[in-house]
Amino acid sequence: MTETQETFPPPPEFAAAANVQADEYARAREDRLGFWAEKARTLLEWETPFTETLDWSNPPFARWFADGKLNVARNCLDRHVEAGNGDRVAIHFEGEPGDIRTLTYAQLTEEVKRAANMLADLGVKKGDRVAVYLPMIPEATIAMLACARLGAAHSVVFGGFSADALRSRINDAEARVVITADGGYRRGRPSGLKPAVDEALAGGDTPVEHVVVVERTGQDVAWTEGRDKKWGELLAAASPEHEAEAFEAENPLFILYTSGTTGSPKGILHTSGGYLTQATYSMFASFDLKPETDVFWCTADVGWVTGHTYVTYGPLSAGATQVMYEGTPDTPDKGRWWSVVQKYGVTTLYTAPTAIRTCMKWGEDIPAQYDLSSLRLLGSVGEPINPEAWLWYRRVIGGDRCPIVDTWWQTETGAHMIVPMPGVVDTKPGSSQRAIPGIEVKVVDDEGAELEGGEPGLLVITEPWPAMLRGVYGDPQRFRDTYWSRFENTYFAGDGARRDEDGDIWFLGRVDDVMNVSGHRLSTAEIESSLVAHDAVAEAAVVGAADETSGQSVIAFVILRADAEAGEDIAEELRRHVGSDIGPIAKPKRVHVVDELPKTRSGKIMRRLLKDVAEHRAVGDSSTLADSSVMDIISQQVESSSADD
Ligand code: WT7
Repeated sequence: MTETQETFPPPPEFAAAANVQADEYARAREDRLGFWAEKARTLLEWETPFTETLDWSNPPFARWFADGKLNVARNCLDRHVEAGNGDRVAIHFEGEPGDIRTLTYAQLTEEVKRAANMLADLGVKKGDRVAVYLPMIPEATIAMLACARLGAAHSVVFGGFSADALRSRINDAEARVVITADGGYRRGRPSGLKPAVDEALAGGDTPVEHVVVVERTGQDVAWTEGRDKKWGELLAAASPEHEAEAFEAENPLFILYTSGTTGSPKGILHTSGGYLTQATYSMFASFDLKPETDVFWCTADVGWVTGHTYVTYGPLSAGATQVMYEGTPDTPDKGRWWSVVQKYGVTTLYTAPTAIRTCMKWGEDIPAQYDLSSLRLLGSVGEPINPEAWLWYRRVIGGDRCPIVDTWWQTETGAHMIVPMPGVVDTKPGSSQRAIPGIEVKVVDDEGAELEGGEPGLLVITEPWPAMLRGVYGDPQRFRDTYWSRFENTYFAGDGARRDEDGDIWFLGRVDDVMNVSGHRLSTAEIESSLVAHDAVAEAAVVGAADETSGQSVIAFVILRADAEAGEDIAEELRRHVGSDIGPIAKPKRVHVVDELPKTRSGKIMRRLLKDVAEHRAVGDSSTLADSSVMDIISQQVESSSADD
C-alpha cells in the first residue's frame, strides 16, 4: 500500500528554515529527560528553577519539574510585554456578526490582571475551581488566564452543552464561581447561555456562590440579585495592577470533562509546568511558529482541549499572533473562513477533518474566490483524516505548497503526541506518522507485544510525558482502571493503530465504545442512559456509524415500553430529548424503533452487529447471540424505516 503511495517532502525553503531539524529526534531519544528539562528551561520563565525533571516513583502519578515554581499567566502575557513585545497583536477577534477587536499583548495582560483582581475580590484563591461557560470571545481566554494567574483551576464547559451537563460538571468540580455570557452568536442569531446557567443552578443545592455575566448579545436575561454580577462593571472597577504569585509546577491548571466508555464524563486534570512546556514546544515544533511573522488560527472552540492548548495556552505562551473567530464557517456565507484567512493574512490554519470534508462538499470554487497565499502550514486534528480530504486540503487550501501536520493527541495527553514534523518528514496523506521528539509510543497486540509489520493493534505510550493528565478529578481508581490497567506501566490510549514498513503510524479509530462525531468524543453509554431515561424507552443501544462528513454519526436502536404512548414521531422526539439532555452534538442522526436488541446469552448487547446494520453491511458473525433470528428482524425493521428517508 505504501510502496505505491505518493509522499510529499517539505518545500526546500521551508525545511531549511524549520524550527525542528532531523537531529532533534536523536537528541531527544539519547536523553529524554534532559531534552524536556532543556525545553522547560528555555521555553518558559520560572520564578524558582526546578532541580528534578521527573518523579515517577509512584506510577501512574507523574510529577514533572515538581520543585520549580512559575505563574502560567505571566508566561502567557507579562513576560512578552517585559521583553518589549507589548504592541504585538495577541488576538485578532472576529465576531460572527462582523464586529472586530484587536488585543495586543499589553492590552490582554491588563485585561487579565483586572479579571484576576475581580475574581480575587469574589474570594477566588489558589486551589479553587471556577466554571467557564462562554462563547468563543476573548473573555473566554481572559477568564482562563485570570484563574491561572490566581492558581485556581478552571473547568471550561462547551457552550453547546445542556444545563444538565453543565450542572453535573459544576457539581463534580465543586466550582465556586461560574463565568458566563448573556449569549453568543450562532448562525446569524443571538443564542442564550445564561438561561442554561440559571437552570443548572436551580434548586439551591449548588457549590456556586457567584455568577459573572459577560454582555455579548445584549439580550434580556433573568437576574438573581446577590448571586449574579456583571463582568463589565466588575472589570471596570477592578485595578489594572496585579502582581502574579508563582505556584508549584504541579499546581492544578484545569479540569476538562471528556466522555469515556462507561458512566459519567471524566474530569481530566492537568497541571502547570509540564503542560505548558509541551504546549509551548509543540507550537514551535509542530506548527514551526515564527512569532514575529506568523498569524496562527486554530478554529476549535475553547470548550474542547484543542481550544485550551492551541487557542489559549500554546499560542500565548509562545508569543504568537492569532485569530479567534466566534461563529460557524457558513455565516453569512460559505466563504467566511476564507475571508478571515485573507483579511488577517493567516499563515497557519489548524482545523478538523470534518470541516475540511464539509468545505469539499461545498465546492472548491468557494475558496478559489479568496487570496489564500499567506498560508504556509496546515494542521488537522480530531480524527483520522481520509487521504481524499488530505489531498484536497493540500491542493485547494494549501496551494500545493503547505506541509500538512496531522496531529494525534487527546484531552488526556494535553498536547501533541504524534505529528509529522513539518520541516523534516515527507508526509503521507492519512498518516500521523511519528511521535514528536521526546515522546515514546508503540503499536502493540492484545498481549502487549510490539507490532511493526503493518498489522493492526493498539496504540500505547510507553514513557510518561510532560503534558500528561495527572488524574481523573476526584477518582484515582478510575484513572488507573481506564488508562493503566490494560498493560503494566504503559498508557493505553483507546485507539487502534498500525505501523507501516516505514515505521509510520496510521490511526484506525477507537477500539472502545467511544464515538467520534465531527472530532468530538461521545460515549455510547452516556447517550444510551439519556434514551432510557425517557418515559417511552425500555432499552437502548447506540453505535457510531461511518459518516461521509462527520466521520461517525450517532445511530440509536430503541425498544419502546409496552405501555408507552408513543406517537408517530417518537424517533424525532427521542432525538430532541437527547439533544436537550446532553447537547445538540449528541443528537442521534437516526433512532430506529425495534422489537429486540441482539444479546449474547449473558445479556451483553452486541453493538458490532448493530453497527453492521447502521452501515448497511451484511451482518457479521452472530453465532453467539442468544437468539440468532433477532438480527434478521432488526435488519428488516431498519430497512423499512430507512426507506422513508
Ligand atoms: C481522540 C481524542 C486532541 C484534540 C481533539 C480530540 C481521536 C484525535 C486524531 C488524529 C486520528 C485522532 C483519537 C483520540 N483523534 N486526533 N489526528 N488522527 N485520530 O480530543 O476529544 O480527547 O479525542 O480523538 O481517537 O483518542 P479528544
